Amino acid sequence: MARIAVLPGDGVGPEIIREALKVLRQVAALFGLPLQFQEGIVGGIAIDHCGTPLPPETGRLCRAADAILFGAVGGPQWDSLPVDRRPERGLLALRKELGLYANLRPVKLFAPLVDTSPLKREIIEGVDLLVLRELTGGLYFGEPKGIGPAPDGKGERGVDTLSYTTDEIERIARIGFKIAAQRRKRLTSVDKVNVLASSQLWRRVVTETAKEFPGVELDHMLVDNCSMQLIRDPRRFDVVLTENTFGDILSDEAAMLVGSIGMLASASMGDGPGLYEPIHGSAPDIAGQDTVNPLATILSAAMLLRYSLHHEPAAAAIETAVDRVLEAGYRTLDIRQPGHTVLIGTAQMGDLVVEHIVRGC
Ligand code: IPM
Ligand code: MG
Repeated sequence: MARIAVLPGDGVGPEIIREALKVLRQVAALFGLPLQFQEGIVGGIAIDHCGTPLPPETGRLCRAADAILFGAVGGPQWDSLPVDRRPERGLLALRKELGLYANLRPVKLFAPLVDTSPLKREIIEGVDLLVLRELTGGLYFGEPKGIGPAPDGKGERGVDTLSYTTDEIERIARIGFKIAAQRRKRLTSVDKVNVLASSQLWRRVVTETAKEFPGVELDHMLVDNCSMQLIRDPRRFDVVLTENTFGDILSDEAAMLVGSIGMLASASMGDGPGLYEPIHGSAPDIAGQDTVNPLATILSAAMLLRYSLHHEPAAAAIETAVDRVLEAGYRTLDIRQPGHTVLIGTAQMGDLVVEHIVRGC
């Protein structure tokens, strides 16, 4: 019996998780996979109920699980809280406490969406890259951190610290090389070596680690240049390895290559249970309207089956079904192409994926 902790969170979280669960239940039935789902609260809803974004009970639930399916956290009603008490802190604490240092964000264009992206077809056709984002270091967690009096006595000073140790860089680099070895054997390490000390160490350690993986071609790129090359020539990338903040920014940018951030799934892995979540946020402005695209979460569920439960056929069945539904012209608002497609809501998208999974088997 595989135990899945389910954390819907805030905003559109419950709606997208509902659809991913529909899909998981269907593949579980078809492939004879015994899955057990246990729900927990996290983020803003947890602040409202328990006064903290990651209640101890949710932490325990996650630690005891084989994998975690996560929706989204945050919303305007909690925006005025200090950063260390905001809903996002619940997600960050989970990443840190579970040691989820490797964040995989595949950016692969589904062929039917080639005209959905604002970029030209000839640039994005065939895009298939993976952003590997370091997830437990860098500016997100470095100390010192906080707001205090300014040293000159005038007003305040906000401080974040960008730090990486050799070990932290080495372990994420190894994952990057291993993933690249199973793909097109090309790893681009992204840094800001011309300015940042942490990047100088990053580049040195990645270069050193490359010696263990002679079959993978390594190149280095500055992050500002990378943000341009992603738009200019995205097909040149296979695996993009980068630190926490750069990865956060570059993955949102890369989402536009495949039409919408509503399509981008992710897996966060470390030594314990993996966490699977869409890369988009809680989108409070469209919550509860049955308009959000559930595919990023459904595709995250496929990654959960692949990486945590090691069930490739079930993962592939979901991905094929998504492709077929898009091929048939069904679209949520974010990936709509006027004139050519059928606009549907969140729940119907989930139903159609389920239907195509059944048909495909
Ligand atoms: C992401 C999100 C999170 C991050 C937020 C919600 C804290 O933007 O997963 O990309 O910054 O890591
Ligand atoms: Mg982000």
